[in-house]
Amino acid sequence: MAAAKPHMNFIFVGHVDHGKSTSVGRLLYDSGNVSEQAMKKLEEKAKQLGKVGFEFAFVMDNLKEEQERGVTIDLSHQKFMSDKFDFTVIDAPGHRDFVKNMITGAAQADAGFLVVAATDGVNAQTKEHVFLCKTLGVKQLHVLVNKMDLAKYEEKRYKEVVEEVTKLMKMVGYDVTKVKFVPVASLKGENLVKKSENMPWYTGPTALEVMNALDPVDHSKLAALALRLPIQDVYNITGVGVVPVGRVETGVLKVNDKIFIVPARDGKGIGAEVKAIEMHHESIQQAQPGDNIGFNCRGITVKDVARGDVCGPMDSIPSIVEDFTAQVIVLNHPSVITVGYTPVFHIHTAQVACQFTELIKKLSPEVVEKPDFIKNGESALVKIKPTKNLVVEKAMDFQPLGRFAIRDSGVTVAAGVCLDLTKKKA
Ligand code: GTP
Ligand code: MG
Repeated sequence: MAAAKPHMNFIFVGHVDHGKSTSVGRLLYDSGNVSEQAMKKLEEKAKQLGKVGFEFAFVMDNLKEEQERGVTIDLSHQKFMSDKFDFTVIDAPGHRDFVKNMITGAAQADAGFLVVAATDGVNAQTKEHVFLCKTLGVKQLHVLVNKMDLAKYEEKRYKEVVEEVTKLMKMVGYDVTKVKFVPVASLKGENLVKKSENMPWYTGPTALEVMNALDPVDHSKLAALALRLPIQDVYNITGVGVVPVGRVETGVLKVNDKIFIVPARDGKGIGAEVKAIEMHHESIQQAQPGDNIGFNCRGITVKDVARGDVCGPMDSIPSIVEDFTAQVIVLNHPSVITVGYTPVFHIHTAQVACQFTELIKKLSPEVVEKPDFIKNGESALVKIKPTKNLVVEKAMDFQPLGRFAIRDSGVTVAAGVCLDLTKKKA
């Protein structure tokens, strides 16, 4: 048997309609991962719905509503084998109404492409997505400048967009010397898998070559930590029983493990025994960090646990916090943030309203002890108190459970990391 290729969760993000789904669909088709026949069917479907041009997007946009409206609503995951990697490609929605789904996807991804249409350049969701990718841990983010056909394949326009995006990524904290840009026309399949003949001025890699040149993610450090598995959904499957699903963030989950799930419905947590684990519809004996799995549990009913709960081992139970100290950066707040502000925190799979109870110190652009408020572009040390039971970990101990996005009235206002915490008394 050939050695397994490294696994990588890879996301496509960017402003609505800039061509994320089309890029994924075309990448899968041009690399032989979607059959001619399946593609024909999607083409017909697009014609029927009066959505010619969306046929490649339909590869990922499977929901009826998505196809009728021509927008992505929820995440869609697809297996994709390249020469170097075993990818799970995640297509995220760009529409502002569905940013919360994009957040879940970004939290699952190790790397990704930011798709920016050359016709439009940097837009509201371009900014929001880059910011979220950075805070939620998408470490390797590269850029597709799409719809080059509509920009007459002009190098001048491409360069303008590259400059705009570079500025944004630098501001958010990416090392722009490592970011690769590819001019593409996804609808026509140019520079995704096959080199374009219309852009002779571009001599760099194709999108697929950029993906193959990614740094493999070293999961061994995460695997050595205690188990943390945030639950994304819970199913009751006839003949099988209760099956929570989620992604292993740290540690290893094995069949027959005894685990503890917190906060669970009663807020105190509940024990369970793992009877079976499944990934991509195949039964496995153990799951590693990065694996999206379903696992059958004994000892709980479907009502005991829910999205936002976290599984850990009996000897290292995930922390339900009384409050926590965080470093936050304010991105997009209509006025200023003061003590008492209670927006929704998106952290691992949980969404819980939390209150700013203390502004300890402004860190940038200048240091101010106990500021009265913080505003856009500023970062600060703050104290936060959840309004409900919530699992948070120090980012230093369990990075994926220590990062969060803060949202209010449909926009991401800020994001941050947890530096310290006080556990709730049992
Ligand atoms: P959301 O998921 O809703 O945010 O949109 P998206 O970014 O996935 O865009 P999608 O792939 O659905 O494409 C939107 C529209 O742009 C469709 O009409 C596509 O046919 C068109 N499109 C995408 N790529 C290209 C391209 O390279 N050239 C041209 N001319 N049109 C494109
Ligand atoms: Mg889409």
